[in-house]
Amino acid sequence: MAFQYQFDRQWKRTVYCGSICEAHCDKEVVINGWVRRRRDLGGLVFLEMWDHTGLVQVIFDPEASPEVFERTKGLRAEYVLAIRGKVRRRPPGTENPKLATGMWEVEARDFSLLSPAALPPFDMNEVDKVDENLRLRFRYLDLRRDRMQRNLRMRHNALLFTRNFFSAHGFIEVETPFLTKSTPEGARDYLVPSRVNKGHFYALPQSPQIFKQILMVAGFDRYVQIVKCFRDEDLRADRQPEFTQLDLEMSFITEDDVLGLIEEYLAGLFWAILGIKLEVPFPRITYAEAMRRFGSDKPDLRIPFEIVDLGEIFSKGGIGAFKDVLSRGGVVRGLLLPGGASLSRRELTEWETWAKGLGAGGLAHFQFKDGAFKGPLTKQIDEETRAALISDAGLRDGDALFVLASDEAAASKILGELRLKLAEAYGHVDESRWAFLWVVDFPLFEWSEEEGRWTSVHHPFTAPKAEDIPLLESKPQLARSRAYDIVLNGIEVGGGSIRIHDPATQEKVFAALSLSPEEAKERFGFLLDALASGAPPHGGIALGLDRLTMLLSKNSSIREVIAFPKTQKAQCLLTGAPSPVDPGQLDELGIKVEAGPEEGAESEAAS
Ligand code: AMO
Repeated sequence: MAFQYQFDRQWKRTVYCGSICEAHCDKEVVINGWVRRRRDLGGLVFLEMWDHTGLVQVIFDPEASPEVFERTKGLRAEYVLAIRGKVRRRPPGTENPKLATGMWEVEARDFSLLSPAALPPFDMNEVDKVDENLRLRFRYLDLRRDRMQRNLRMRHNALLFTRNFFSAHGFIEVETPFLTKSTPEGARDYLVPSRVNKGHFYALPQSPQIFKQILMVAGFDRYVQIVKCFRDEDLRADRQPEFTQLDLEMSFITEDDVLGLIEEYLAGLFWAILGIKLEVPFPRITYAEAMRRFGSDKPDLRIPFEIVDLGEIFSKGGIGAFKDVLSRGGVVRGLLLPGGASLSRRELTEWETWAKGLGAGGLAHFQFKDGAFKGPLTKQIDEETRAALISDAGLRDGDALFVLASDEAAASKILGELRLKLAEAYGHVDESRWAFLWVVDFPLFEWSEEEGRWTSVHHPFTAPKAEDIPLLESKPQLARSRAYDIVLNGIEVGGGSIRIHDPATQEKVFAALSLSPEEAKERFGFLLDALASGAPPHGGIALGLDRLTMLLSKNSSIREVIAFPKTQKAQCLLTGAPSPVDPGQLDELGIKVEAGPEEGAESEAAS
């Protein structure tokens, strides 16, 4: 079918498809866009024409122009057209209230085919049902949908608001390098070989952490950057190998300055994007409290129940197994499930099996209905214990109480996960809420079995609490940091800290991390030198902008708010990256690849 090679001015749109309204009635318009659907009905041809603003119906009548009508016969979905026609109100009974332009239609006079299109590999009207890998392979078609257009436009608006907000608050955006040295954020680095320095590699930044601290030493006072970060880690729905941070750093501040500013920013963002008023300040809880009450360092506060400590109640009597665990220094903790008294025996057994799969010895339960207790251990608890479960633990008629006795870490982990699972299974997540909170006072270190040494919970530049500095050498496990995380609906959307700003403390922390002075000098000597040259007290934070936009747009995967994301296997199905390279390129870099490309890598890209 003939198409117009050079776009002619006369076919330039006068109006967007989605904005056709009463004001255009009886007027001639030109629209440019894609055929979303074509229908032949009673001698007429109907096209749904789409552009990023929406859809409009176009009608071709053979009586108006037999020649134009004839040409519509070759048109198919996703062809690109310019259409000239007159807008009219749809005849009564044919209006479509589901469509913004559904009261009107364009009566076509003429059209120009700007570009034909191959047959789409899926029905563009049913993309929600299409396998995600296929959507990613044909991302240009997937993005040609209202939902993806909305997501990326919302992201744009969020970025625009962000830049304006921080600029208005005295921050300047400074770009930091991508070809750099490893920055430890707990993941593996992506390495880039250097051709002119054979055998040497750059690391793509896991974050601009060290550079932003150096900018503070350099006197910039307030730095911000919307920046890509790169981490080679196992991927999940909220993780990508390259992702975008809103990264910032401030000098001469304390925790309250950073937290207060981020609250003001988020309140402004939610108001600008969603018209929602957030309640600030957000609640703040310590890491220890988060683990005790929610079994998680990123609690989802939309769930109305939390972990209760039952040690006191069960230390008194009844159940021998619980008393044993308590006497060995363990804990007895429980979860109250509202409405749980109506769970069937099968469901209760399934939850116990699930908990055992996570390493629990067992998961006991009591159901409380019409004033009576039910459950295998009921006979072993006396009246006093029953009364305490009601008055102290908060068991209400109609509820179930799950009980776990074990060491504290396992109880936290298992009950924390059980809380999320139960809430999801029985509809206890209040989806209407935006539940923000700060988690503060994280431990400074965690033990790495794999590496056989203490590692940083955040990164090695995080300041210890002043009163915990003496613990760095003697009891590193007890040292707390001046780090804070911000959590929204159970997802960590950001983290930051006040930094160490003197080389002596920094060296002590490196020592606690088993970095020898030589190693520390080799890896971070430039930072130690910078800290020794007049460093202001400083701190900052980074928010995951993909995660934030995912939550703002009510999506459950960050891939929905990233134009060209990677799969779980870190592949780009659109371009086929990563891919083997030309042997000549490897020679130039002085690199020998031992094994050939992995089979799996090829097959996913091909699917
Ligand atoms: P952190 O490592 O906590 O802190 O990262 C900050 C935020 O970035 C987001 N994020 C990710 N998003 C998508 N995919 C990933 N793979 C991924 N990894 C992290 C999260 C996270 O909360 N330099 C410090 C910040 C600081 O101390 O100022 C840092 O990078 O939302």
